[in-house]
Amino acid sequence: MHSERGVGKTTTAVNLAASLAVAEKKTLLIDVDPFGASAIALGFTPDKIKASLSEIFAFTHSIKSAIHKTDLEYLDFVPSNIYNVNMHEKFIQNLENRLVIKNALKDIEDFYEFIIIDCPPTLKGISTNALVASDSILIPIKSGHFSLEAVDRLISYYEWLKDVSNPTLKIEGIVLTMYEKDSKVTKISERELKMKYSNYLLETVIPNTNLLNEATFYGKPLCLFKLNSEGAEAYLNLAYEIIEKNNKEELKVK
Ligand SMILES: Nc1ncnc2c1ncn2[C@@H]1O[C@H](COP(=O)(O)OP(=O)(O)O)[C@@H](O)[C@H]1O
Ligand SMILES: [Mg+2]
Repeated sequence: MHSERGVGKTTTAVNLAASLAVAEKKTLLIDVDPFGASAIALGFTPDKIKASLSEIFAFTHSIKSAIHKTDLEYLDFVPSNIYNVNMHEKFIQNLENRLVIKNALKDIEDFYEFIIIDCPPTLKGISTNALVASDSILIPIKSGHFSLEAVDRLISYYEWLKDVSNPTLKIEGIVLTMYEKDSKVTKISERELKMKYSNYLLETVIPNTNLLNEATFYGKPLCLFKLNSEGAEAYLNLAYEIIEKNNKEELKVK
């Protein structure tokens, strides 16, 4: 889950992970953004967090001890919580090691059908660590508020990373967020993206809806806050689109 700040990465990570869980796919959401926005969106206050990514980077805890159950049976969560502990220094030191997350995942990846990692907006450090551990990258883009140059930059970074560290990394897709179907800028940005990146653009679009904001405020994914809503439906559709796409690719491999 990667791109600029405020484009809907965390909202997408949390709601997509929850929707995959609703579809009964065993899913793990890992927050690697130091500000821990996913934890807030899932209602995890610091007192509910027993261990987090910072302990994994400090090699004091295994990833298993940082896995938290959520309100959804099929969804587990690893919080980030980096700035709430004294391990910041250690954390920064070990970021140089690009393999920390990849190695940690080896112990648990067989338990999950999907592992979603919510990245911060920077294209280095922890994001590189996350992308080295990933099979694919999902790029949320805010409708009407993006520059093609920024998308180009992200794609070049992806190509560099693929070359140097993760040759099998794929692009899962680009998903338009905060989509306003009657807005001219939404239409223009969709057209521009279709011209340049039609192969990556996913069919599902995520509408601009304050309910997503509200659900985050109450610490719930939208499907647990108001299932019968355009936003919850959109994220369920995104989950189904991604499940279908992965099923097809699996068939191709076989
Ligand atoms: N589809 C949407 N409609 C309306 N508001 C949204 C939508 N997606 C995200 N937001 C809001 O936009 C802000 C930034 O979203 P967030 O997911 O935190 O972005 P990022 O993780 O990319 O920084 C948050 O306040 C969030 O509630
Ligand atoms: Mg975020």
